Amino acid sequence: MLFLSMTWTVERFSRSKKLGGNNAMSRGRRTLLLLCLLLMASLLSAHTLRADNSIRTDAKISYDPQTHVFRLAGADISYIFGVNERQQLQSIYWGQRLPDADSIASVHSVGGSSSFDPPINATQQEYVAWGGGLYVTPDVKVTFADGNRDLVLQYVSHQIDGNHLNILLKDVQREVYVTLSYTVDAETGILARSARIENRTNAALTVEELNAATWNLPAASDYQLYQLTGKWAGEWNLQRQSMHPGKTMMESRRGSTGDEINPWFALERGVSQGEQSDDVWFGALGWSGSWQIAIEQDYVHQTRITGGYSGFDFAYHLAPGESLHSPTFYAGFAQHGMGEASRLLHRYELHALVPQRANWRPRPVLYNSWEATGFDVDEAGQEVLAEKAARIGVERFVIDDGWFGQRNSDHAGLGDWNVNSKKFPHGLKPLIDKVHSLGMDFGLWVEPEMVNADSDLYRAHPDWVLNFPGRPRTEERNQMVLNLARPDVRAYVYGVLDHLLSSHDIAFLKWDYNRNWSEPGWPSAALEDQKKVYVDYVQNLYGILAQLRVAHPGVEIESCSGGGARVDLGILQLTDEAWPSDNTDPFDRLAIQNGFSYAYAPGLMMSWVTDSPNWVNGRATSLPYRFLSSMQGSLGIGANLNQWSAEEIQTAKTFIAQYKLIRPIVQQGSLYRLIEPSGDSPYVVTESVSRERQQAVVFAFLHSSQQRLAYPPVYLRGLDPEVNYRLKVLDGNLNGSVPASASGAFWMHYGLHFNLRGDYEAAALLLEKEGVQ
Ligand code: GLA
Repeated sequence: MLFLSMTWTVERFSRSKKLGGNNAMSRGRRTLLLLCLLLMASLLSAHTLRADNSIRTDAKISYDPQTHVFRLAGADISYIFGVNERQQLQSIYWGQRLPDADSIASVHSVGGSSSFDPPINATQQEYVAWGGGLYVTPDVKVTFADGNRDLVLQYVSHQIDGNHLNILLKDVQREVYVTLSYTVDAETGILARSARIENRTNAALTVEELNAATWNLPAASDYQLYQLTGKWAGEWNLQRQSMHPGKTMMESRRGSTGDEINPWFALERGVSQGEQSDDVWFGALGWSGSWQIAIEQDYVHQTRITGGYSGFDFAYHLAPGESLHSPTFYAGFAQHGMGEASRLLHRYELHALVPQRANWRPRPVLYNSWEATGFDVDEAGQEVLAEKAARIGVERFVIDDGWFGQRNSDHAGLGDWNVNSKKFPHGLKPLIDKVHSLGMDFGLWVEPEMVNADSDLYRAHPDWVLNFPGRPRTEERNQMVLNLARPDVRAYVYGVLDHLLSSHDIAFLKWDYNRNWSEPGWPSAALEDQKKVYVDYVQNLYGILAQLRVAHPGVEIESCSGGGARVDLGILQLTDEAWPSDNTDPFDRLAIQNGFSYAYAPGLMMSWVTDSPNWVNGRATSLPYRFLSSMQGSLGIGANLNQWSAEEIQTAKTFIAQYKLIRPIVQQGSLYRLIEPSGDSPYVVTESVSRERQQAVVFAFLHSSQQRLAYPPVYLRGLDPEVNYRLKVLDGNLNGSVPASASGAFWMHYGLHFNLRGDYEAAALLLEKEGVQ
């Protein structure tokens, strides 16, 4: 585009001179000028693209029949592997994109250094079965009916279709096939890998491990491993440790994703702890059941990451002709540190994964009274709150827990999804109509996978829960887990939700899941099929969500699990946002949101403004501080509006109006973590830059002023250095005389100087490119 306008300018310039008749440019001079302009244009466009963290946006897959090398390229990355002399797939390279013209030699397996290191372990295998002396984590492990447990996979054939590649592998002897699937994303270079094992023998076999992929990294001794760990009300803690030879196992045995550790990793090479520098390899699993990611480093620092179904208690029976798919493992490479790694992942989630990918619209501002009213919801009370919510600018009104069955506390009612006639004597319709008349859409809380012992559903179907016959059934929060793997339970859950959505005008479901599994028995299944529960449950969950989305295309869904215990790239393909934590304290949230942002886009993160002091920790904070903390994600209000003063209502109105202006930047833009939360520092600053670098929003927070220290200068990133941005202070103060408008270079190098003093103070700014409305 820039190139076109430059050539047009040269043309026009030379033509106008010709028309004037005098001093017409010589052909040579014109060519020189054109070349200079072309050079400028190419430098500028290269710069533009680089600042946006993506030099190229194309994807390509090729296979060289001479060398048997596969080359996958997308955006700035190349991913290369080959078929070696043993017909095994062997990793060659994963990193910055290499020119196509550079030739890559065929690959040979690596010998071990002694009789204790068989070559099968020393060779960087793309996908390897347990057999033939393998000691590292296998991608797949099976037991055959005749007692044989040895499986050795070899390359058979492949198929390339645009940016997809399928490779067929087969056991050296038996009719067991594995199809590996690769997709490379043109915009981010992120790869999606999965595997499918198929039993074409004439006897059943049992799959005991099935991983999606192994990712091999260059051998190096200076890797830093990043993980996200947590607990209820304390999710998304970023952990960082040096890698050394040995194995780190990340896993959930909970039946679902879990918040103890999220199925995401990043490995940074080097020690700069760089938001901006260092090579980073990162990845995340798309699976909402028990999962594992094994990170192994051998004695020569070869590092491999293998992920898929948790191998714990796993056994999937495959009759002749049957097959089993692994989850999908997504991974990418960033040359500019952890900041770029997150931005690539965010972009991938938003444009390639989430249901709204093709048709994004800003997340609406939501109201939910859970923290204000608990189970005490009824028609009159909710109507009053709805009126107040509409007045401050809320766009979606949600009833949380307590509207159904005998649900007056968490002791009863789960499973009985009929409207409680004491609380809503006329059903939900009058309230929904009221909400609509106030200009908002309507949402509802559900927890469809659970049942209380005190419910009509459990009284009618005690056999529907996960259980081992005759054994205790452990309850958590007084509830048990329905066995969604059972076809009748799946049909019931779908039927209930379909009915609810068909008979009411509902735009949004908050889909909760408030405990993990225990006694994961499936007694009604054939003995050899009972452990299929780990896979079939989650597949049915996905199936229900997918079916509901087709039947009710307008309905949006939030994934909640007592906070952030079910956030992963699997559930996010079927839900529109996630609830990161029940902890709504705005200061704690800064760290929670920061951790969340390492793996998931801010636009997918619901964040409520609630009452002060906060119920979690008794901390009191001002309303502006609470708003600015929540405005870094998808904004919700979870406070008791009946107790807000006229002044608070006015404050809320102002912030919500401001949020509506900046939300496309926050929800869809590139996030820069300028100062991250840390116990050692009272400062936190984030910046979001819109895709075209037209606008940026900056949020700055102060925990507590200490020793009259000034707020450190804040240097913005990701702006266009050449153009001017107008500054608008949304809230808070800056120090000294600040220009109303200055270049991107000024804001990035001279910086901003916030004037924040006191405790729990915050500020927010908007920068807009000159000339943009
Ligand atoms: C979970 C959710 C909360 C709320 C309650 C209702 O804890 O995380 O937001 O919906 O359930 O019981």
